[in-house]
Amino acid sequence: MVPTKSIKKVSFNFRPGRCIGPQYEVVCLLGSGSEGEVYKILERETGIHRAAKFYYPNMEPHDRAVVWYAQKLNHLRSCPIVLQYHHTQAIQVARKRVLCLISDFCEGVQLEQWLLQQKGHRAPPFTALNILYRLVQGLELVHGVGEYHGDVHSQNILLRPRGVSFELKLVDFFNWGPPAKHKKQQDILDAVRVFYECLGGRRYYREQAPQIKYICSALRRDLLFERFPTMSALRVYLESFEWISL
Ligand SMILES: Nc1ncnc2c1ncn2[C@@H]1O[C@H](COP(=O)(O)OP(=O)(O)O)[C@@H](O)[C@H]1O
Ligand SMILES: [Mg+2]
Repeated sequence: MVPTKSIKKVSFNFRPGRCIGPQYEVVCLLGSGSEGEVYKILERETGIHRAAKFYYPNMEPHDRAVVWYAQKLNHLRSCPIVLQYHHTQAIQVARKRVLCLISDFCEGVQLEQWLLQQKGHRAPPFTALNILYRLVQGLELVHGVGEYHGDVHSQNILLRPRGVSFELKLVDFFNWGPPAKHKKQQDILDAVRVFYECLGGRRYYREQAPQIKYICSALRRDLLFERFPTMSALRVYLESFEWISL
């Protein structure tokens, strides 16, 4: 996401089969927000699926958002939690040039949707810890290359059960300006919020084990950042804490 001046939403409403440049066609809509739409597309020559993100053309200057996101993904191309950027593609929509961003398509489901499919709409503590660990591992590498995500929540996390664990992908980086310590710390708080949501939120918090509560830190920023000042500190804790009674 990129902050914009005017947000007057006019849906693209692309139908399946619609051409996206000479190489691709639309398969289906994957998601839409206030700033644009994401479609699953098919590369005709190869049968390979990709994702195309379109920003609404009335968001000015429109190309800036695509270029910013492309550069961000390119910078993060060594991070396994980030989907690979492929290229941009300009198409004509109602006689207006619209630039879209083509990236890997992720087979996973939104974490929010996955939770709705679980018993009680929540995950058992050990599963939630597993998801948090994957998220923290991924974000640690993002922070390691000097970046931050800026909008970590359960709709921007795509999850795929894999063996005994999960494969996670993070989409939709937000542009809060240049990286800074407090922006990375916001990712820590947001990751822990996602963990809390996985556990069932406020309703089930009281019954959680002390170790789980220690990580959540009652979602208090001061306490959380005192315990885990960096993503690496949280990752180290997740790898080493003891299940003995506290
Ligand atoms: N590369 C992708 N592969 C599969 N699904 C994706 C991909 N990118 C986005 N999505 C889906 O589309 C939704 C909207 O994309 P997102 O980039 O978060 O845009 P928005 O700004 O509308 O929130 C995501 O929550 C996710 O479910
Ligand atoms: Mg999003």
